[in-house]
Amino acid sequence: MLFLTQLIAIFIAFISHQHEAIAQFVPGYSSVVAPVHKHTDAAKPVYSVQIMTAYVNMQFLHENLLIDLDAPFIWHDCILLWNTYAGGCPPNKLCTYPVSCEEYQCTDVRTTYSYNNPSCPPVNNGSTLPGWGYCTCPVNVVNPVTGSCGEAFLDYDEFTMNTSNGKNVFTGLYGAYPNAACAPSSSFQEFPANVTGVMALSSSPYAFPAYLNEPLKKVMAVCLPSTLSSPGVFFYGNTSYYLLPQSSVDIRSFLSYTPLVNNPDYFGYFIGLSSIVIKTRSIEIPANSTIKLSTIDPYTILRTDIFNRVVRRFSLVTKRIPPAKAVAPFGLCFNASVTGLRVPDIELNLEGGKKWSISTANSVKQVTDDVACLAFVDGGVASEPAIVIGTFQFEDNFLVFDFEKSSFGFSSSLLRKKTSCANFNFTLTN
Ligand SMILES: *[C@@H]1O[C@H](CO)[C@@H](O)[C@H](O)[C@H]1NC(C)=O
Ligand SMILES: *[C@@H]1O[C@H](CO)[C@@H](O)[C@H](O)[C@H]1NC(C)=O
Ligand SMILES: *[C@@H]1O[C@H](CO)[C@@H](O)[C@H](O)[C@H]1NC(C)=O
Ligand SMILES: *[C@@H]1O[C@H](CO)[C@@H](O)[C@H](O)[C@H]1NC(C)=O
Ligand SMILES: *[C@@H]1O[C@H](CO)[C@@H](O)[C@H](O)[C@H]1NC(C)=O
Ligand SMILES: *[C@@H]1O[C@H](CO)[C@@H](O)[C@H](O)[C@H]1NC(C)=O
Ligand SMILES: *[C@@H]1O[C@H](CO)[C@@H](O)[C@H](O)[C@H]1NC(C)=O
Repeated sequence: MLFLTQLIAIFIAFISHQHEAIAQFVPGYSSVVAPVHKHTDAAKPVYSVQIMTAYVNMQFLHENLLIDLDAPFIWHDCILLWNTYAGGCPPNKLCTYPVSCEEYQCTDVRTTYSYNNPSCPPVNNGSTLPGWGYCTCPVNVVNPVTGSCGEAFLDYDEFTMNTSNGKNVFTGLYGAYPNAACAPSSSFQEFPANVTGVMALSSSPYAFPAYLNEPLKKVMAVCLPSTLSSPGVFFYGNTSYYLLPQSSVDIRSFLSYTPLVNNPDYFGYFIGLSSIVIKTRSIEIPANSTIKLSTIDPYTILRTDIFNRVVRRFSLVTKRIPPAKAVAPFGLCFNASVTGLRVPDIELNLEGGKKWSISTANSVKQVTDDVACLAFVDGGVASEPAIVIGTFQFEDNFLVFDFEKSSFGFSSSLLRKKTSCANFNFTLTN
């Protein structure tokens, strides 16, 4: 549906150095789109969304930012420089403008929308930048790969995305102007090569959705690829979505919905779970359980009591498959030298009655040539939240967050619909 007003259909990009505005008319679009890459060259697999972050040397810089559903604000590798007009920005470096410690955003982020991590030191007011006279606004950032704390500086940033109708990518661009934080390269230790920041997609007012126009910001769709060879896809906008080869099947027709459940202790998203069923037998879980959706945990994490019950049931229903010695961090592994390993679905019955089916592709991970493991991990006896769904379970599942209706749409495995997250047609069209 092409319903955006002309007002937001006009995109204005600022050329950082000359500060000239280029305006470009954009045809009717219903969404903004970005490719999602899977990265396996770090301690754990992570997924990034590709954003254009600045216009340098007559072209946009492309940055891959790690997808984080729970981060309070966006942060990336850039240089904080006030006086860029005077040629202060090094060539081919991304420079941005600082938020001062006296601005309300600074206090707001530090007091209410900060990383909640006891290992982070208290923040102080930053140093005064030359030629400016105000202090900067240092904030703590927690590296999602290592868990270590670093310091970044709040800034005024500019992110650009391509527009779409849910089927193709248009040449028109869309600009958003978030407050993000600039972090030194040292904050990205053990990140995959080519990932230079964290894209906060949480409910925080400093996460990315908050900076988009209505009605784009109302609906977010994420489709994480299982492969490195072609990208998955990420959208904002309440549109129909298409994946090849079915160019006329709206992916929304595959979705079931469950309410998003509020959890005041987190910026991220939770859904309600009524039962876990494996081959018609229900596994005992605490009453009114919720599931945290996590894009930084690679596998589903279950509190020990739940984990043990799931493993016991799962090993019972797979006892015809020869076992293999368990490989950390997993607890149940199989000898997968026989090809075409197939296991029963793990069914999550969600609040509202809809069922998320976790099929073999999302429940069993091939660890070596002849070992495959149940891709769930034991979070410990006091694990809180008790159930966290991780990225292996999300791969090739189409996920939609409808913030207006506060509901979460999920497709279960797209492979069963003969498509995948890596099947979006990124070819440009006019
Ligand atoms: C930083 O400085 C501002 C302005 O002087 C002040 O309002 C704020 O309380 C200071 N914050 C910290 C953490 O010292
Ligand atoms: C957006 O489209 C342009 C072509 O107009 C392309 O060069 C660029 O890579 C695309 N950006 C992203 C982040 O996909
Ligand atoms: C990083 O990006 C470059 C350029 O797109 C690509 O050639 C290279 O393979 C990427 N490296 C990794 C580890 O993904
Ligand atoms: C999205 O579009 C559908 C179909 O047109 C409509 O039923 C729904 O209310 C819309 N949702 C939002 C958040 O605008
Ligand atoms: C579960 O939710 C129901 C309905 O909201 C409520 O009546 C009940 O007390 C809750 N049970 C627990 C153990 O929290
Ligand atoms: C798997 O089974 C095959 C055939 O019985 C055996 O040769 C192989 O060593 C087993 N591998 C593991 C990891 O158990
Ligand atoms: C992808 O989109 C382009 C541009 O609209 C179109 O020409 C092409 O046929 C599409 N590819 C497939 C496989 O449908």
